[in-house]
Amino acid sequence: MKITKIFFSPSGTTRKVVGELASSFKQKQEICDLLFFNASKEFTQDDIVIVGMPVFAGRIPKTARERLLKLTGNNTKAIAVVNYGNAHVGDALLELVDILKENNFDVVAAASTVSHHSIFDGVAVGRPDDEDTEKISEFAEKCMEKVESGESLQSEIPGNTPYVDYKQLPFVVSCDESKCVFCYECISVCPEKAIPDDDPVDIDLDSCSRCTACIYICEENARSFTGEAFEAKKPEFESANSKRKEPEFYL
Ligand SMILES: Cc1cc2nc3c(=O)[nH]c(=O)nc-3n(C[C@H](O)[C@H](O)[C@H](O)COP(=O)(O)O)c2cc1C
Repeated sequence: MKITKIFFSPSGTTRKVVGELASSFKQKQEICDLLFFNASKEFTQDDIVIVGMPVFAGRIPKTARERLLKLTGNNTKAIAVVNYGNAHVGDALLELVDILKENNFDVVAAASTVSHHSIFDGVAVGRPDDEDTEKISEFAEKCMEKVESGESLQSEIPGNTPYVDYKQLPFVVSCDESKCVFCYECISVCPEKAIPDDDPVDIDLDSCSRCTACIYICEENARSFTGEAFEAKKPEFESANSKRKEPEFYL
């Protein structure tokens, strides 16, 4: 048996959570990073997949969804995780579990975990923290028992169908030309190819999903959210979502 860690993780925390979960398993591990991987792939009955998605406006990110739909199982054991920024999960976990089931994965367990908010960086600062990691490790032990027992997911997953409509955030992502060193990393990481190949300072905001990959990869901190809409929303959002939320686990 081998474990494949499948994730879409523009600011790196979903990758971290999936890594924590996988570290309890003893099997050989592989990575399928959906920021870059965009092809069909079939898993066997001998595989286990751990699938992690960030929550974007109560859904899983559109681009990640399209890429995930190309992965199919053969009654392959799956653990589904959505990772959110201490605001709300919405229908994202239900959506993820539904996709996996439709694509012939046998979902054995699911979770919603909390990490720093990748847009509003004053929310859930430093998470996942030690407390989260301990809970994730305990959950991993239970996941292993479920894989061994052959039992599928029993719990009901919160969420509604039809899922909440996907909303594009109105915020502007911009690049400070005086800081940009033209390393072109942002261009290679952008899953929507919204940054022109020859001009990292530019961005096509119609195709950009605001995923934050270009912001977090930039070592010069040249890219950021800017503009009146963002500046106006930030304090209000951070104060409304300051109360700590806890991860939830479903077996
Ligand atoms: C476009 C966008 C929309 C988001 N929407 C939500 C949301 O609806 N609820 C929430 O709690 N967090 C939301 N977040 C925060 C992320 O879910 C959270 O920061 C997550 O940890 C990011 O995962 P990553 O580090 O793997 O990119 C959003 C972030 C982005 C970039």
